[in-house]
Amino acid sequence: MSSIAIFTLFASMGTDAYSTADFLTPPDWFAHGLGNSGGVGKGGSIEPINVIISAQSQINPIKALTSFSSFTTCFDWISTLQANVNPGQTTRVNQSVGLRDGGCIQWALGGNHLRAWPQTLPDGNTAYFIAASTESPCISDGGNSAPPFVPNWHCIDADGFNEGRDQLTDDFTSVSLKYPFVLGIQKVQLYPSGVGTDAGKGSTIDHIPYDGKVNILTLTMSNCPQNLKRSGEC
Ligand SMILES: *[C@@H]1O[C@H](CO)[C@@H](O)[C@H](O)[C@H]1NC(C)=O
Repeated sequence: MSSIAIFTLFASMGTDAYSTADFLTPPDWFAHGLGNSGGVGKGGSIEPINVIISAQSQINPIKALTSFSSFTTCFDWISTLQANVNPGQTTRVNQSVGLRDGGCIQWALGGNHLRAWPQTLPDGNTAYFIAASTESPCISDGGNSAPPFVPNWHCIDADGFNEGRDQLTDDFTSVSLKYPFVLGIQKVQLYPSGVGTDAGKGSTIDHIPYDGKVNILTLTMSNCPQNLKRSGEC
C-alpha cells in the first residue's frame, strides 16, 4: 500500500494520534497456520494481529515483558504461525517470537499467549505485530491428541482473541510500573470484525470472533530524548 493510501486510512479513522512513524499498514492482518503442526497452527487456521508495538517505542518490548512478567518462551517451533507484516512482502514467514504466560505449563493450564513478527520501517525502527489470545485447557483440539507427556491441549477461549489483546495490554501496564516506562495505548479499528476460520471439526477454536480493533502500544522512557533513540535503544 502506498504511503498516500496509508495516510488516507489514518485520516479516515479521524485521528492523527499515530502515524507512519508508528507502523505501516501490513499486506495482511492475519497469521496463518503452516499445515504441519497441531492445534492452532493447523493449516487453514488464522489468528488476527491485535496488538502493535509502535516503532517509536524506546525499549525492547519483548525483553521488558520477559524480564518483568511471567511470559517466557516454550517450544516456539510447535504450533508455529506465519504472517507477512512488511509492506511489499509476499511470502509469509514464521513468527520470530512466541511467548506463553507461565511458560510451558501454559500448555496444560491455559492463559495468555502471543506470537510476534517485526516490521522494519524505512527509518530503521522496528514495530512488532502481535497476535495475542487467551487459552484454556481442553482435551481435544479438533481431533488432534495432545503431544506426548502433555496431559491436555490448550484451546483458544470463546472470546480469546479480543481478551488476549486486552490482557496483554494489562500485562504491559503492569510491566510499565516495574521497568519503568510510559505506556501509550490507542485502541483503533484497523480492519473489519469477523471470525477465525475452521481449524478442525468440532474444535473449540472454530469460529472465534475478533472485533478488528488493534491496541497500538508505545513504550517510552521519560529520560530518553524523543526522536533520538528509538527501537529499544534507550
Ligand atoms: C518455520 O516453522 C516450521 C515449524 O516450526 C519449521 O519446520 C520451519 O523450519 C520453520 N521455517 C524457518 C525458515 O525457520
